[in-house]
Amino acid sequence: MTGNPLREVCPGLYVAEAKQRFYGLEVGARMTIIQHHGTLFVHSPIAISPADVAHLGTPGQVLAPNLLHHLYVGPWIDAGYEGWAAPGLPEKRKDVHFHGVITPGVQPFGEDIEVLPMACFAMTNEVVVLHKPSRTLLVTDLVFNLSPKAPWMTRTAMRCLGGYPGCNVTLLEQVGMKRDVARRELGIIAEWDFDRVIMAHGEIIETGGKETFFQAFQWVLIGT
Ligand SMILES: [Fe+2]
Repeated sequence: MTGNPLREVCPGLYVAEAKQRFYGLEVGARMTIIQHHGTLFVHSPIAISPADVAHLGTPGQVLAPNLLHHLYVGPWIDAGYEGWAAPGLPEKRKDVHFHGVITPGVQPFGEDIEVLPMACFAMTNEVVVLHKPSRTLLVTDLVFNLSPKAPWMTRTAMRCLGGYPGCNVTLLEQVGMKRDVARRELGIIAEWDFDRVIMAHGEIIETGGKETFFQAFQWVLIGT
């Protein structure tokens, strides 16, 4: 990638975006970089070089946050970042030497960054992240928020999957999610204080994100 791929979302929090296809659909992909006590926490890296963010801080940790978002984690570990994986990912990526796996109760990133490994959807085993100072929730494939700027084919397919328009969980998750587990895990997220939601695919929700996020889960939360 050429040029400066970074965009500052708020002080200490940056994103970089790139084109990304999934099953032939252009869905884009976003990574997030958090300045964290002089080091960098990298969430869901895309195909940029660690050198592109070196001016922001020294290598800290890189998180491959689910079983689908791991393609570009290797160069960050090679650059000196401590690699952390979603549950099950080390078995899938035996070529990558991870420092650790996010498991329930493990909080390896200090007080400002809280993580929750979600066991409700085995296709992704997603780890969601709360950045407390910026009141930001980082998710990967848990919800989509595609805009009208997305390609027509992507919008059409996602509409059929219940993932467009707006912030949504697709029918894929709705069918495959263990609902009792999801309710328990969403209950933990409900206790978190956040206003912004950054997802890997779609538009960042700058404010009101907590309400919007939980509206996307009404299908599982209704009646609880
Ligand atoms: Fe994804």
